[in-house]
Amino acid sequence: MQISLEKISLFPPEQYVYAEQVRALAKDIFGENPKACVVTYGCQQNVSDSEHYKGMLSLMGFSFIDEPSEADFILYNTCAVRGHAEDRVYGNIGVVKNYKRKRPNTILAVCGCMAQQDIVAERIRKSYPYVDMVLGTQVQHRLPEFLYKRLSGSNRIFERQLDNADIIEDIPLSRDGRLKGWLPIMYGCNNFCTYCIVPYVRGRERSRHPDMILKEAREMVAAGFKDITLLGQNVNSYGNGCDFGVDFPDLLRMINDIPGDFRIRFMTSHPKDCTIKLLDAMRDCEKVAKHLHLPFQSGSDRILKLMNRKYNRETYLGLIKAARERMPDISLTSDIIVGFPGETYEDFCDTISLVNEVKFSSLFTFIYSARTGTPAAAMEDPASREEKGIWFRELLLAQEKIAKENSKNFIGKTFRVLCDDFGKKEGYMSGHTSGNCSVDFKAKKEMLGKFVDVKITDYTNMLIGEII
Ligand code: SAH
Ligand code: SF4
Ligand code: F3S
Repeated sequence: MQISLEKISLFPPEQYVYAEQVRALAKDIFGENPKACVVTYGCQQNVSDSEHYKGMLSLMGFSFIDEPSEADFILYNTCAVRGHAEDRVYGNIGVVKNYKRKRPNTILAVCGCMAQQDIVAERIRKSYPYVDMVLGTQVQHRLPEFLYKRLSGSNRIFERQLDNADIIEDIPLSRDGRLKGWLPIMYGCNNFCTYCIVPYVRGRERSRHPDMILKEAREMVAAGFKDITLLGQNVNSYGNGCDFGVDFPDLLRMINDIPGDFRIRFMTSHPKDCTIKLLDAMRDCEKVAKHLHLPFQSGSDRILKLMNRKYNRETYLGLIKAARERMPDISLTSDIIVGFPGETYEDFCDTISLVNEVKFSSLFTFIYSARTGTPAAAMEDPASREEKGIWFRELLLAQEKIAKENSKNFIGKTFRVLCDDFGKKEGYMSGHTSGNCSVDFKAKKEMLGKFVDVKITDYTNMLIGEII
């Protein structure tokens, strides 16, 4: 794999030319103030991509609205990870047909992970003739070109090549937040967990050059960002196969050395590549949040093997122990899949026992959803949907109990909290601890963006505290 600095690919100059042309055309077609609506589904990777789509649209003269029915350009940035996510998108695409009756010039683009799948592109080609563009995950930077072509009368555009070419740096960017921001450090995934569609729609793993990441991190800090999340499907394999000799723990330390008062988060860590070196870096770096999102997916070794996760229950629990030895107050979160093909109630009980043993701060739990083209989709899946639903509820109840106990244990303790939003009640501020727990406390509006020490005083359905 690349990447010496001189080989880095930048946003192509011709896209700026197309952007200028779109700016002029859009005014002719939509009027003085063309409006775009960008709707994002799925994970933070998509949220970050949408910030680049918005950056390019802004360059092309669009302002943004939340209501698709009033937009001149609608972009759905889609997720393919579970069937439910896809169904919602098809529903929303269907409705655009009515918007287009009233506003026939409106352009509809379907982008992101769903758009990358052949079956989706074919379905849109056949059944949704009013979709103007279907753009895959690796052609994002060519949006100005595609929009120019469509506005100048070209046929519908289907551009979905997944050639794992270089990362394009410096795509225009319009960030959603001012305090919390996303910073992608790598793209794609090489792990091929047997249930997962991501490697097929995002392509092979590619790491950004550390100089590019540091440059962006410094810019974010200078712009006032206080909470920066480094993004990758498996940040622990950052730098694999690259010639710059920086791995993820090294990168954390480099970002930690940037002067300023800010927090560093990251997601996601794959347990198979989570090292003691990483845990040591987390412990040593004062800006790195003491929060580890470490998805274990299943507590059963038999199921982990079928999932191709390449670790087992024992090694996972070993990592949790090592993390807690280094950072006793670390907050741990995880992802779990219930009802993987062939999973029995006994396997599921291994998941419950792991949850009870670790006592996670919170969990993201999903019922298995078969994804066409993945190995798991061809495996026998005898447990019924109803049965899986019962297991799923059992897991939710187990975690609810743990979360309540965890929260009650917080009462009387003091945490450093970033005031990142206004609270639900007037006169209150809402913030997050290093472990990413949300807490509300009385504070003036001017405190927004500041770090304060908050003592937890109460827990009902949420943590309440007071500044000390
Ligand atoms: N790269 C991350 C996860 C990305 S997808 C990692 O490896 O941890 C986010 C989560 O969605 C996964 O952790 C998994 O729990 C869930 N997921 C992925 N594919 C799924 C499927 N087919 N059915 C149900 N849940 C799935
Ligand atoms: Fe999917 Fe596994 Fe890659 Fe995560 S590591 S994106 S779960 S294939
Ligand atoms: Fe979904 Fe694509 Fe993320 S499939 S979870 S949006 S990488």
